[in-house]
Amino acid sequence: AGRGVAILGIYVADLAFRAAHMPGVGQTIAGSGFAMGPGGKGSNQAVAAARAGAEVTFISTLGQDSFADNALALWRADGITPRVKQVDTHPTGAAFIYLNEKNGDNAIIVVSGAASLIGVADVEAASDAIAAARVFVTQLEQPADAALRALQIARAAGTTTVFNPAPAVAFDDAVYPLCDFITPNEHEAAILTGLPVTNLEQARAAGDAFLARGVGCALITLGSQGALLHSASESVLIAPFNAGPVLETTGAGDAFNGGFAAALAEGATPREAARFAAALAAISVTRAGTAPSMPKRAEVDALLARA
Ligand code: RIB
Ligand code: NA
Repeated sequence: AGRGVAILGIYVADLAFRAAHMPGVGQTIAGSGFAMGPGGKGSNQAVAAARAGAEVTFISTLGQDSFADNALALWRADGITPRVKQVDTHPTGAAFIYLNEKNGDNAIIVVSGAASLIGVADVEAASDAIAAARVFVTQLEQPADAALRALQIARAAGTTTVFNPAPAVAFDDAVYPLCDFITPNEHEAAILTGLPVTNLEQARAAGDAFLARGVGCALITLGSQGALLHSASESVLIAPFNAGPVLETTGAGDAFNGGFAAALAEGATPREAARFAAALAAISVTRAGTAPSMPKRAEVDALLARA
């Protein structure tokens, strides 16, 4: 395979509402803040990777509306090459994000809209971009059969595959042996393996379950505990970084995945790439928003140099 990072995923408009608590059914409450910004796990990962210095191609489907215009403007500003279809039958998606104004907890409803149409044929039409990349990344916000096909194309082309099983919805077990890396968070790892994942020891057991299914390496993020990089040849805890007070953790997983892919594409070892990813994610959680909170390369390098 070639250079850079290709990502299949979705873009949505993130509509973030801050409030003291979630409204109950039938209740209206006054919130304390609102922000609209770019979101969608795949697009957030593309922004993280591009700001980290990678050459990024993003494969997706949008509607034909102002949210789509925002997406195209974002990717242009960040130097991301879109391989994007636009349809007039469905709107560009959106996410409702509830943010607890006191502790930063979040709850999300995401509607993928036009991106729900992404199918095997769309992925096959972008196979040249997947084959030309050094690293391919996908998640599960678009249909799982599209993710499976893209991983097959990447594997056949010798492109390193990173599968971020988020959200943890059902997918074909044929995906596992196509993953050079699987990158669930602790909740996703627990759902997919049926094992509890709250500490390092349990994460190792979940990691073994992924390896038994044919994955090359499990990289399980554990929130404030760091991340476990677990393969047949190494099992190491990637220590968490502290880049300042945590403001908003939404999109932290996307920061991590985008950073990991960018570093791998530069030839970093999995361990170095995971460390880079952890540093990038640590900066993102000190800032509001998802894609807007992704740092520039120099900021990540500075944090790594300080640690
Ligand atoms: O991972 C965070 C993202 O998930 C948000 O940007 C939201 O759009 C949801 O898709
Ligand atoms: Na953030």
